[in-house]
Amino acid sequence: MKVLLLGPPGSGKSTQAQRLSRKLSYFQVSTGNLIRAHIQSDTELGRSIKGRHDRGELVPDDVILEITLPNLEPAGRWILDGFPRNQAQARALHEALEKRGISLSRVIALEAPDGELIERIKGRRQSLATGWTYHLEHDPPPKKRDDLDAGPFVPREDDTAEAVRRQLEIYHQEVEPLKQHYEKQGILTVVDARKPIPEVTEDILQALRPARAD
Ligand code: AP5
Repeated sequence: MKVLLLGPPGSGKSTQAQRLSRKLSYFQVSTGNLIRAHIQSDTELGRSIKGRHDRGELVPDDVILEITLPNLEPAGRWILDGFPRNQAQARALHEALEKRGISLSRVIALEAPDGELIERIKGRRQSLATGWTYHLEHDPPPKKRDDLDAGPFVPREDDTAEAVRRQLEIYHQEVEPLKQHYEKQGILTVVDARKPIPEVTEDILQALRPARAD
């Protein structure tokens, strides 16, 4: 199973990827988390992309390909979120998978209106320990610092109104058209991301059922 999650900022890609990876033992590959790990560790690469990340702009394609593609193990079961973000990245993904003799099993497109996404991102908290995503109201971080996730739970540097507006613009211009591309291949399922988190997870599991039975 090789699964791709597409969706605007705040639609729940990370939330769903982390839930599915726990339920199905998939490996979660999140380009946003890979980028933020570099920034947090203050690597040279992290320093070179921090400004773009924090402003909500796309990081250059060559950097994204370098940090993402090596994680897409041919024999593994993975769920990819945050990539591809434009036509060039979609082509590069296709070529990399083709070279490895594999293809995407299913693409899940999460959909919700922009206004709701902006509200969600205001309440988002991310764990600096695990990279997992929470929401103050809809999916609160653990109160006790347990073994699973000790936190701290903080807003992301790009959780500003301006960065989210920029991310939404980029999403509508560059990412949304990719849905057509995967629809033509017959592997796209659109999921209503306005529903509560567990219901969205159920809808995704339902969409993955035929591919998991193969
Ligand atoms: P990235 O980290 O990928 O951010 P994004 O795509 O903008 O998406 P978000 O992480 O903001 O939202 P999400 O859909 O994961 O929602 P979440 O689960 O957090 O990328 C960040 C930056 O990195 C980019 O701007 C760019 O700079 C760079 N980058 C990354 N990939 C790149 C690429 N391929 N090319 C170039 N640059 C790249 O949920 C949001 C909140 O809502 C949470 O608090 C959650 O708990 C809550 N929530 C989730 N679902 C629900 C629900 N159903 N109901 C209520 N609340 C919910």
